[in-house]
Amino acid sequence: MTSTSTSTSTSTSAGVKTGISISGLTMTLGRGENAKHILRGIDLDIPAGQITGLAGESGSGKTMTGMTICGLQPPQAQLGGRIDYRGTNLLDLSQRGLNDLRGTEIAMVFQDPTASLHPMLSIQTQLTDHLRHHTGLSKKDAIERAFTVLEQVKVPDPRAALKKYPHQFSGGQLQRIAIASAIMCNPNVLIADEPTTALDVTVQAGVLRLLRELCDDLGLAILLVTHDLGVMSALADTIAVMRNGEIVEHGDRFQVITAPQDPYTKALIDALPQADGSHGVTRIDALLLDNTVEA
Ligand SMILES: Nc1ncnc2c1ncn2[C@@H]1O[C@H](COP(=O)(O)OP(=O)(O)OP(=O)(O)O)[C@@H](O)[C@H]1O
Ligand SMILES: [Mg+2]
Repeated sequence: MTSTSTSTSTSTSAGVKTGISISGLTMTLGRGENAKHILRGIDLDIPAGQITGLAGESGSGKTMTGMTICGLQPPQAQLGGRIDYRGTNLLDLSQRGLNDLRGTEIAMVFQDPTASLHPMLSIQTQLTDHLRHHTGLSKKDAIERAFTVLEQVKVPDPRAALKKYPHQFSGGQLQRIAIASAIMCNPNVLIADEPTTALDVTVQAGVLRLLRELCDDLGLAILLVTHDLGVMSALADTIAVMRNGEIVEHGDRFQVITAPQDPYTKALIDALPQADGSHGVTRIDALLLDNTVEA
């Protein structure tokens, strides 16, 4: 396995941000003969100010890794190893301690934005209630913060959007609002699990570009989970590849894409569809420069 070693903290105009460092993380479901080893000793740095891409085949454990960082693993899961964040191993925290961090310092964006938004509550209520609960801000100040964040995620006419309900938005706009909701409390870490998979192809690039901007502007530590190595190659700073509960490779995106060390990564890259209908790494430069993602 190759790895990229970086400091997990960074300083930006938005303040000092802190990333997460995972070491030897294991997860087992069931016991004895029925034991299923879901995560088999994961080592992964998710530094501030970077997008760490997590790719790999279906069922390899990408979602479980993201969920465990947020303390949302299945209740019967047996965990081992460490998830270090600001000097604390998150695995040692009580449920209450985790609840305090989740949604404030460590936020998550899911594949389906409707999963994180309540259909019967206005966008304003959804964005401000959680913030006020955690910060004690006045209603007026919380609404101003919601307005600013909706502007930041480029939802058109933020003032009017605050008064609307989820069903009044398209999928792409809704995912932007879900991202707004995730960053309302100014988190350090954002876990984005297949955030564009449910979206129309034409709006995927815009949402991905937004994640890149938020990472750069706010210094967020972003874990971007996707099975799409093409997206990774255009967007992530480093790429980690999972297989069967293990990280088989982690390194600089260019290095992983152009000179994969692990046979499984190589097979994934060889399987990438190319514009000319062939497969393989020959057109990888074009993929890296693909401006449908980075333009
Ligand atoms: N709630 C659960 N209870 C038991 N096993 C689960 C549960 N959720 C997932 N698993 C199992 O854990 C393993 C890892 O699943 P996970 O959802 O993390 O994969 P993934 O890499 O995110 O896949 P995909 O690309 O399809 O989203 C799989 O074997 C899956 O069957
Ligand atoms: Mg998944």
